[in-house]
Formats: sequence, structure tokens, C-alpha cells
Amino acid sequence: MFAALRSYGLAGTDAFAVDVEADVGKGLPSFDVVGLPDAAVRESRDRVQAVIKNCGYHFPSGKVTVNLAPADLRKTGPLYDLPILLAILMASGQITAPTAGAAFLGELALDGRVRPVNGVLPMAMAAKEEGCHSIFLPSGNAAEGSVVEGLQVYGVSHVGELLGYLTGESPLAPHPPVARFAPLTEFPFDFSEVRGQTAGRRAMEIAAAGGHNVLLIGSPGSGKSMLAKRLPTILPPLTAEESMETTRIHSVAGLLNERNPLVTARPFRAPHHTVSPNGLSGGGVYPTPGELSLAHNGVLFLDELPEFSRPTLEILRQPLEDGQVTITRVSGTVTYSCAVTLVAAMNPCPCGYHGHPTRPCHCSEQAVSRYLKRVSGPLLDRLDLHVETAPVEYDELSAKEPSESSAAIRKRVLRAREIQTERLRGTGVHDNARLTPALLRRTCPLTESADRTLRTAFDRLGLSARAYERVLKVARTIADLGGEEKIGSAEIAEAIQYRSLDRKYWKEGT
Ligand SMILES: Nc1ncnc2c1ncn2[C@@H]1O[C@H](COP(=O)(O)OP(=O)(O)OP(=O)(O)O)[C@@H](O)[C@H]1O
Ligand SMILES: [Mg+2]
Repeated sequence: MFAALRSYGLAGTDAFAVDVEADVGKGLPSFDVVGLPDAAVRESRDRVQAVIKNCGYHFPSGKVTVNLAPADLRKTGPLYDLPILLAILMASGQITAPTAGAAFLGELALDGRVRPVNGVLPMAMAAKEEGCHSIFLPSGNAAEGSVVEGLQVYGVSHVGELLGYLTGESPLAPHPPVARFAPLTEFPFDFSEVRGQTAGRRAMEIAAAGGHNVLLIGSPGSGKSMLAKRLPTILPPLTAEESMETTRIHSVAGLLNERNPLVTARPFRAPHHTVSPNGLSGGGVYPTPGELSLAHNGVLFLDELPEFSRPTLEILRQPLEDGQVTITRVSGTVTYSCAVTLVAAMNPCPCGYHGHPTRPCHCSEQAVSRYLKRVSGPLLDRLDLHVETAPVEYDELSAKEPSESSAAIRKRVLRAREIQTERLRGTGVHDNARLTPALLRRTCPLTESADRTLRTAFDRLGLSARAYERVLKVARTIADLGGEEKIGSAEIAEAIQYRSLDRKYWKEGT
């Protein structure tokens, strides 16, 4: 006898339909799973066999074949345990169940409990789009699946529960829909706590307004980490569309749970400097998203930048430019989005006090140079704003008045973002940091004096073509923050100043 059920598979953050077909025939006892399964899917055989027996049914004694169609797409992971079990029970005539229009996924424990799986959100979304009316999935994933509107989501914690429901013996209530998306706007910290540090605060505001990457250089305790952590507090609130994009990635990485089924705030990811290239970009034999993609639509903070391994840092170059990262493995090629604002922080030397006004630096010149060289020129080039965080003065720290709040800064950021949205409507580009060369020419009119300032700087500082573009982009954002349509020489001068640190520390042209 034959039975077929609908399930889903993952390719990156997209889901594809998988038909789980089971055939029970006469012949010598055997159990095969075909249709490009990976090792975890093949292991399903042992789990399913054990669960069928442990739940009081019997495993068919003839030739059992399970086919996962379409056969040309690789099926990975343990999520087919549940549909395989159901298909075999149906094909062997042990149960009859109305399964049309329903999708099934879940990993099984040997006693029949249903374990959570990764990537439920994209799979539930695909099920809805393809006309399924309900989906049965592990109860640990039920909230995540319930994010999809118009789909009945049944959380199952034990196979017995599902079999009871399908055969009409016991009830099973669908998971209530998850509350509609509302962006999180409360944060545990605020820019009002950051004293002094005028240049650092200004750079973070420009970064937030135009989506620029930032490099903070300064001595220990000067507030670099403090500034970076507060960047999400001045970014525009996450939109519903962005939330969905980021939630999909977090779903595939298995980071969602009953209490947090939806990403509602811009992610802030701060991987430790020992992170591997795969950990950062995503990867593994069966690719999963890395820190870069988990930070999609948010902030990636790399603290102690020179401590990251060179291969790890070099991996960032292309994704930072493209906003997506492509991973190629024998198991296939997947692409994950990673539109992030990168904030990098570092000390100016191994001891941290190179250039400090009062404390002596104990590093030799070679040690300083070796330390700085760990950050390559091309990576440095992709960081639009380079800022020095000077040690905070006592008077600034002890001042009674709090500094300007995140809410006040965010207002200006939002205005500048609105101007960009209006200007870039229909171009597919959303912020100044990602302006293409053609858009750059169209959207960055300079006043005469600004043109002169830029020409002088270009000749005198020996700016590269890329540095020239970066200066223009940053100047565009500074002008947007000031509500100016034309870019003036003050904006150009400020933008150029954010390129001067590589000259000071790295002592080479950009
Ligand atoms: N500008 C500042 N205003 C108020 N407090 C500050 C400031 N800078 C530093 N601090 C205090 O010092 C602590 C350490 O700052 P932070 O961790 O940001 O330094 P850092 O520059 O990242 O140092 P490191 O190089 O060691 O990582 C903060 O938690 C905060 O309490
Ligand atoms: Mg720090």
C-alpha cells in the first residue's frame, strides 16, 4: 500500500515542498529511504522504527520504501521523522487520517516525544503560500510557526497526541496566533549615559543616519564598547518587513523560542574575536547562517578588531559590499542576507596607550605597526567613519547634566532617513552608504566651495577613487542630517576628517 504526506525542506532561508511517500510491499523485510537524503535523514529510519514500536504499533514486516520527492534537492536534518512515521503507519493500514492540505515536520525522540527543528518559519510561510490550511510541528516551534497568518498551527509534543487527533480519538487545539508585530523601542541603555566623547557620538549619529560602517580607535576604558552598544538605540525602529527577513534567518539558525518567536528589535551581534571564519560568515557541512547574517538589518560589533584572525576579517570584505553572503559546499550553494552596519573597535597598540595624553605606551614601534597591520587596507577602506575616542576628562564624567538622549538623536536620524527614502525611491537602494556610482553622481551635488575643498584634499591627501566615493557618501549623510540638499564645504571637510586616522596610524594613503 502507498501513502503520501506534505513536508518541507530548507535551502538557505527559503523553503521547498517535499512529498514524503511511503510504500509497504511484500518481500524480504527492508527499510530504505531514497530521494537524496543526508546522513541525519537516513538515521530517521532507526528512530522511526523504534518510535513505532514504543508507541504500540508494529513496524511492517515487508519491504518498506520511503521516497522524498523531488529527488534532485538534498534533504537535510531530522525534520522528516514525523512525516515518515505517519506515512508508514498509513501505508501499512494501521491508521487512516485526513492529511490532505496539511504539512508535517518534526524530529522524534525514541520515546515518541517530538523535538524542535530549525527553519520552521520559512517552511510554515511556504506551506501557507502553497495552499496548506494547517501545519503540524513540534510544540517547541509552535509559536514560531504561528507568526504566519491564515495557517492553523498545531504544536505536537508527543506522537501519541498527533495520532489521537488525526484518528479522531482526542482533541488538539491550534496554537493561538502570535501578537502582531510591534517594534521594540525600549532599550536597557541610552546615549545620555555617554559623557563627553563628542566625536564618537557624532560619528554614531552619522552612521545611524546613513548606514555607514564605523571604526572606533582609543585607549582602554574610553567608551568604545559603550558607544557601539548604543547604536541600536538611535537606529530607526525595525519595520515589519525587516522583522520578517531577520526572523527567517534566526529561525533557520534555531534561535527562536516560545517567548521570542519574532525578532522585534534590530539585532546587535558581538561575536568574540576567537570566532571562526565559518562562525562569522555562516557555513558548516550543511550551511547555517553566521554572525554576519544573524545581524541582518542590525549591527555587527567587532570589538578588539586586530585580535580577529586575518582569514576571519578578510571574509567580511565582499559581504559588507553586497549585503549578502554566499556559501558554497558540496551539499549546495546558499545565500544569506547580511545588510549590517559594522562597528569595529580597537586599541591603537597592544598595551592600548599609544598616543595617550598622560599614560606612557610600552610598545615598541614594530609591535605597534605589527598590531595595526592585522587590519588590512581593503577592510579599513570599507569603514567609512574612523574616529578616535579620546580619554574622557574628569569634568565631563562628573558633570551633573546628562548628555543628549538617544530619543533626541533618533529624531534627527529619522529625518535624515526620510530624506534618503524620498530621494532614493524606486532605486532599490535605501541609504547613502550603499549608493552606487551612478546614484552618487546624481544625488551628491556640491557647492562650488565644496568642490574646491574636495579637489584640494584629493590632490593633497592622494585619495583613492574608493576613498573619494566614501567621502562623498558620508558628506551626503552629514548634509541630510543638516537638511541641506547641496553638499557644502563644511560637510566635505567633516567627511574627510573621518578618513584621517588611517593616515595617522597606518601612515599610508587611502
Ligand atoms: N564617555 C564615557 N562616559 C561615561 N562613562 C564612560 C565613558 N567611557 C567609559 N565609561 C565607563 O567606563 C566603562 C568602560 O568603557 P568601555 O567598555 O566602553 O571602554 P572601551 O573603550 O571599550 O575599553 P576597552 O578598550 O578596554 O574595551 C564603561 O562601562 C563606563 O562605565
Ligand atoms: Mg571595549
